[in-house]
Amino acid sequence: MQDKRPEWSSHLSFIIATVGSAVGLGNIWRFPYIMGKNGGAVFLFTYLLLIAFICIIPLCCELGLGKLYKKNVINTFEIISPKYKWVGWLCIITVTLIPCFYFVVGGWILNYIWIFLTNELPVNFANYFSSFSSQIFMPCFLTILFLIMTAIFPFRGVNKGIEKANNLMMPLFALMLLILAIFALTLPGAKEGLLFMFKPDFSHFDKTMILTALGQALFTLSIGMGTILTYGSYMKENTNIVKSAYTLIICDTIIAVTAGIMIFPIVFSFGVEPSAGASLAFISMPQMFSELPFASFFGLIFFALLFFASITSGISMMETTVAAFTDKFKISRKKSTVITTAVIALISIPASLSFGVLSNFKVFDKTVFDLLDYTTSNIFLPFNTLIICLIAGWSIPYFWKKIFGESFFGVVFNILLKFIVPIILIFVLVTGI
Ligand code: TRP
Repeated sequence: MQDKRPEWSSHLSFIIATVGSAVGLGNIWRFPYIMGKNGGAVFLFTYLLLIAFICIIPLCCELGLGKLYKKNVINTFEIISPKYKWVGWLCIITVTLIPCFYFVVGGWILNYIWIFLTNELPVNFANYFSSFSSQIFMPCFLTILFLIMTAIFPFRGVNKGIEKANNLMMPLFALMLLILAIFALTLPGAKEGLLFMFKPDFSHFDKTMILTALGQALFTLSIGMGTILTYGSYMKENTNIVKSAYTLIICDTIIAVTAGIMIFPIVFSFGVEPSAGASLAFISMPQMFSELPFASFFGLIFFALLFFASITSGISMMETTVAAFTDKFKISRKKSTVITTAVIALISIPASLSFGVLSNFKVFDKTVFDLLDYTTSNIFLPFNTLIICLIAGWSIPYFWKKIFGESFFGVVFNILLKFIVPIILIFVLVTGI
């Protein structure tokens, strides 16, 4: 049995859901650090230019394809031409592989929420994290738990599940981020932290910095996987694509910068080295929170923040696959969610075990977790984005007119779409590999 094609109940819900998809671990544990390390304000300025003039193009392409065809990612490319069927499948493979490592981190977040909730805090988080993540049972169990918690929402449907989850979690997320950022600014290291993040350093302005900014911008916008296309396919007929895309970019950037305003004052108040990724979120930050007067309160807020950020992104990843399987195999949304969940569960277990028993099992010199992370972010993401731009630019008659209109901006965007963005993406791909 096939369900009727859903639609967001309001424009605001659509924006909140896409922001929920875009705002994830990338905004909190990656952006602030690479901004601080790559020239501060100079990086921010470069990033803003790139995201506003370059990344906006694939973003509008995905939203536009969604609006134009109102289909899941596989059927969309199949309709454009049967010879592009593989593009849809490639997006599905990518977007199904990402949660396989992303949800392992989700499992760790659940564990940390638990320890801050029960106030059973270890003395040394570095030791604690390495001994916890290398266990067999608990991390796998929590990864699956996080997966099931995420799957509930696509299972319940677009309006009753996804929309409700985002409308509840994203405002909470914003509120908590604000509380933590304001608190961080009252700490003694606030000035030093802000200087680390914003102080312009022109010596970093080079090819590497531009590529880093571009890679981060692509990852944070969740493009290249058909996710934005799928969310776009539920939009209302009169939605303005370019406006929505800029709204998304502005919200995403404000949140990423605010995350930095929260993190670095804390980091510098405790005199630890600024860092990114797992060691920042699961070692330095909790260690510092555990030394503050209201340890469990602030620690809990921080991990709730990470939880909301990652689950709303996770929902959008799963929805992309669920929507595709539902239409493609003509099965119910519920059945499709169960299949997607099973596939992710199967691959995420070795990813979780790669911090323990499987740490020596390496393919191309990388553990399962690192391999999934590396190939999806550095190869699939820019490659899929490139193909999507080429198809939208060259294979769909008047695509740009339908999306951007015939104004001056429309013409500029068309040139960007057909020539400039593809060339840049090829460059990103070649250097990335
Ligand atoms: N944008 C997410 C983040 O910043 C990560 C991400 C990449 C993503 N691709 C995605 C999320 C596809 C959802 C769908 O963490």
